[in-house]
Amino acid sequence: MTAYPAAEAAPGAPALTLRPWRPEDAGDLVEAYWDETMRRWAGPVVDDGTGAARWIRERRRDWETGDRFSFAVLETQGPQGRERLVGHAVVKGLRPGGPSAEVGYWTAAHARGRGVAPRALLALTDWAFALFGDRGPTRLELLHQVDNTASCRVARKCGYEQAGILPAAPPDYPLDGHLHIRTRRDACAEKSPQVAC
Ligand SMILES: CC(C)(COP(=O)(O)OP(=O)(O)OC[C@H]1O[C@@H](n2cnc3c(N)ncnc32)[C@H](O)[C@@H]1OP(=O)(O)O)[C@@H](O)C(=O)NCCC(=O)NCCS
Repeated sequence: MTAYPAAEAAPGAPALTLRPWRPEDAGDLVEAYWDETMRRWAGPVVDDGTGAARWIRERRRDWETGDRFSFAVLETQGPQGRERLVGHAVVKGLRPGGPSAEVGYWTAAHARGRGVAPRALLALTDWAFALFGDRGPTRLELLHQVDNTASCRVARKCGYEQAGILPAAPPDYPLDGHLHIRTRRDACAEKSPQVAC
């Protein structure tokens, strides 16, 4: 398997490492869900240590079945290179020969507003296009509710162009949504180093 996604350090932006969730991340996951914005946009909500352990077990099982690939996003901080959990990134439905897959993400409240989600998403995008070589997807999709303007900004900053409006489907999706798409051709045009063009 292609090495896990990563974003190199840049001025004012520490390096990001993406790796599968581990049982020891449970405390940080619970803490991330103390935030109202997370509880509103990043369901299902994780309430406590038991819920976090279950959620991480499920994400690890997804890796075994190949249903979805979920990553904890960690920022490398300080001269000793200590890692802190700052977010989550996921690609769902990625299969050899499958035409498309769907991406998702969140950033912990303490790390928002400094480009963590876009940098993680760009790394994940290259990884997803590269994972199965020529048999990889031709497009990646990103969905968000119309009033999630922060998520819309992340999509646009990462070259996921708006491709349609998804009608509301209450009670889970009370408002319309945006469908954003990034194609493999776009990734190739930008000469993403990992993607075979
Ligand atoms: C959407 C989300 C992932 C953005 O993550 P991020 O790492 O903060 O991304 P960015 O730093 O690029 O900021 C994106 C936008 O958030 C807004 N923002 C900026 N600072 C912010 C802050 N401190 N707190 C909240 N939002 C902020 C701005 O609109 C920004 O866009 P801009 O850079 O064009 O001004 C994050 O807000 C989040 O986790 N939200 C809850 C979960 C969620 O909505 N997930 C997506 C579901 S579709």
